[in-house]
Amino acid sequence: MDTPQTWSQRFETALHPAIATFNASIGFDIALIEYDLTGSQAHAKMLAKTGIISPKEGETLVNGLQQIRQEYRDGRFRPGVEAEDVHFAVERRLTEIVGDVGKKLHTARSRNDQVGTDIRLYLRAEIEAIQEQLRQFQQALLGLAQAHVETLIPGYTHLQRAQPLSLAHHLLAYFDMAQRDWQRLADVHRRVNISPLGCGALAGTTFPIDRHYSAELLGFAEPYGNSLDGVSDRDFAIEFACAASLIMVHLSRLSEEVILWASEEFGFVTLNDSCSTGSSIMPQKKNPDVPELVRGKAGRVFGHLQGLLVLMKGLPLAYNKDLQEDKEAIFDTVITVRSCLEAMTILLTEGIVFQPARLHQAVNQDFSNATDVADYLAAKGVPFREAYNLVGQVVKTSLAAGKLLRELTLDEWQAIHPAFEADIYGAITPEQVVAARNSHGGTGFNQVRQAIQRAQQQLGQSPLG
Ligand code: ARG
Repeated sequence: MDTPQTWSQRFETALHPAIATFNASIGFDIALIEYDLTGSQAHAKMLAKTGIISPKEGETLVNGLQQIRQEYRDGRFRPGVEAEDVHFAVERRLTEIVGDVGKKLHTARSRNDQVGTDIRLYLRAEIEAIQEQLRQFQQALLGLAQAHVETLIPGYTHLQRAQPLSLAHHLLAYFDMAQRDWQRLADVHRRVNISPLGCGALAGTTFPIDRHYSAELLGFAEPYGNSLDGVSDRDFAIEFACAASLIMVHLSRLSEEVILWASEEFGFVTLNDSCSTGSSIMPQKKNPDVPELVRGKAGRVFGHLQGLLVLMKGLPLAYNKDLQEDKEAIFDTVITVRSCLEAMTILLTEGIVFQPARLHQAVNQDFSNATDVADYLAAKGVPFREAYNLVGQVVKTSLAAGKLLRELTLDEWQAIHPAFEADIYGAITPEQVVAARNSHGGTGFNQVRQAIQRAQQQLGQSPLG
């Protein structure tokens, strides 16, 4: 630490300035500083507990680290590129504050297990925060669903009108996706929450450390069982990027629907001024920038997943400097997912207004009740495939006559099949079409009300339950 650079006396000349910049990670790993301090405090306590340093020295180190925390929070500690990375920056500042005893902090530790500890502490906290955000997103979906159990919306397959749906059912599909996202994060959390601290550079250490104790101080479930694996494992980061990618898939699909719905062609929703923007040239326009940006940002998160996979695939054991490249991918994934979840939650809570009149018109002007005519005949004993073919003819005739199914006369129905009776009209209203789909998980209103109850129960679960 007295030399122009931080490593050993075997180096005679300083780093080329451009190489120093190239090598430095302080520009981004400063984001880990609070975790680096926490990890170092636990390490110092462990060193004191095991008698590797004295209790007094341990206390001095812990207090010095706490002072750095305060200096950082107050904006007084802002290390530059000369520090190389956050770990050196902290150690150097500690020695300035507490003197030579600061040089004892790195006993029985390497930056390799240190950085692994820091990222895990960071990711653990961020995963918990994202889980909380998912809960808020789900709450917003549930709120809308509760308001729209009886609002109908066309349901599509192949983006062609298929069967009408309860709007709540449509929204709760996203609720369930978010529920899986939440569970996936809980699962990743388990593998993030393992301590590499004490793995040393790669092989463990000659000192009588207590890895279980430092793990426990940091709230880790257990220490890694293999030191080589502990310092070079980034599976948890890849798993996180994968879970984050799926969150983005879901947000992006919802975004795509909102964008379509907000178009003049659909007109199912309008977006409030607080969540849409104008055009610099076309004064009539109101653009759905929020869902467009979310859809766009999905790509960069998928890119980080790919980047991390490729980063790892050729690495020999154990630590390699390549691993410094994991950080920006992880940080940007966290920042992107968090900002998208926040924006989409705001959009759902206050930015989007469904248009019941337009939706009503949409579900009443199409042939999306055709399946129900076939089901009607099948319920009266006509084999379904035969009924299906008959209804195909009905639709063809109606289209040719410019009529909807409900506009056919009873004579016209009975000309197609004698089993049709006057109750056919009641069977094919959009409301009845929806209500009748009362199979478990279907769009029938009773099912949707039960789904809302299930959703409420799920929201009551503890963050990591
Ligand atoms: N800045 C480094 C990283 O992000 C810290 C670990 C450096 N270890 C080493 N052996 N050079 O990975």
